[in-house]
Amino acid sequence: MVEAERMRVSVIGTGYLGATTAACLAEMGFEVLGLDVDEAKIDLLRSGRVPFYEPGLDELLVSNLRAGRLRFTTDFAEVAEFADLHLICVGTPQRDESGAADLSYVNSAVEGLAPHLTRPTVVVGRSTVPVGTAATLAARLAALAPVGKEAELGWSPEFLREGFGVEDTLHPDRIVIGTDSSRVEKAVRALWQQQVDAGTPFLVTDMQTAELVKVSANAFLATKISFINAMAEVSEVAGADVIQLAEALSYDDRIGGKFLGPGLGFGGGCLPKDIRAFMARADELGVEPALSFLREVDAINQRRRARTIDIARQLIGGNFAGRTVAVLGAAFKPNSDDIRDSPALDVASTIASLGARVTVYDPQALERARQEHPELNYADSMLGATRDADVVLLLTEWAEFREANPDEMGEVVAQKRIVDGRNALDPTYWRASGWTYRALGRQ
Ligand code: UDX
Repeated sequence: MVEAERMRVSVIGTGYLGATTAACLAEMGFEVLGLDVDEAKIDLLRSGRVPFYEPGLDELLVSNLRAGRLRFTTDFAEVAEFADLHLICVGTPQRDESGAADLSYVNSAVEGLAPHLTRPTVVVGRSTVPVGTAATLAARLAALAPVGKEAELGWSPEFLREGFGVEDTLHPDRIVIGTDSSRVEKAVRALWQQQVDAGTPFLVTDMQTAELVKVSANAFLATKISFINAMAEVSEVAGADVIQLAEALSYDDRIGGKFLGPGLGFGGGCLPKDIRAFMARADELGVEPALSFLREVDAINQRRRARTIDIARQLIGGNFAGRTVAVLGAAFKPNSDDIRDSPALDVASTIASLGARVTVYDPQALERARQEHPELNYADSMLGATRDADVVLLLTEWAEFREANPDEMGEVVAQKRIVDGRNALDPTYWRASGWTYRALGRQ
């Protein structure tokens, strides 16, 4: 703790990753200064408000602002003066149809910071980047910094899940630092000393391996989800039940049950764009065939959306035109208000384009959904959205939907038909209440 109190850390970029990292490091006892180029975001954070939904983060932000351990700025000179360790936490979105990562934010973080570095400094990237990026950035940092090679850069990917960001940051399952500099390694070790003392594995690798750890972890997770979704496709036509299949597989501890949940598939700001950026990078490196299976992983995932729409269409007699459709869920997963590449909104918007009146409800993501998808209708409650519906689609498995009462919902809908896109409901219970229940991968 004494060490932590002395260390001053800057966090560059205050989105999901950066804001969570900044608040958690302050909670761990460090002096933290967060930087973002977005003034509005910085004003919100300064006033103790988190610009997105992340359980537990508001409390950490407010208590650490009050304790004086956490501050925010838009000024690179201030950040450079304040800290000896800088963490780059900016986004790397998908660039365009090529699928490659857009590195403009990481580049401008380094270019914004470097000219102010006049004393020996450690810069550590946490963003997800294509393998090879860190080496280029390290050279750029040393070239632009007045202190030259004494400004050193390493790469330490994060693995936090949205919705569990605080927990995953305070209790990471591993720390990976890619560097060949003992100063960088020492700074990162000091940052996570409490976690390492508590048993968190600490791995020192070269920069390329560290970059690859992150993208390959996400590629593996995406593959696991698409694997079980491929089994769902087979199960549907073979007369099998993918839920029972997944359960039986899960007892083999070499396979395990996590990320084996069949349904509408993955979305969000990470898995879809990370597998595409990984393929694009493999292509550049001349090893495209090594990752061509990820194309299939992506295709299986996209087919889940089409299949969900097909099932709903069948349920209402073959045509969406003039029908009333309720969609439960807009966020890409529960406990988040993130709608980036949301499977739920993709399905909702396609059904609307086929002529249905679609009404969406989500416990947290309504405001964002409204801005991005003005073509959809929104309700401020689950029963409000399902009122007069010819079919209900459950597309994000919020606890509120899992615990829905089929009798109560049955009172307000026009027809008791439900598509369970996340295999989140008990079919026996819903059928007993008079509902026609359909799910992906089941009979
Ligand atoms: C992911 C990784 O888990 C995390 O380690 C990394 O740092 C960032 O990317 P996140 O995008 O927050 O995190 O979401 P995650 O919980 O991994 O879920 C991703 C998507 O997969 C969601 O759309 C979810 O609904 C879907 N999913 C997950 C399934 O369809 N089935 C499953 O069994 C698990």
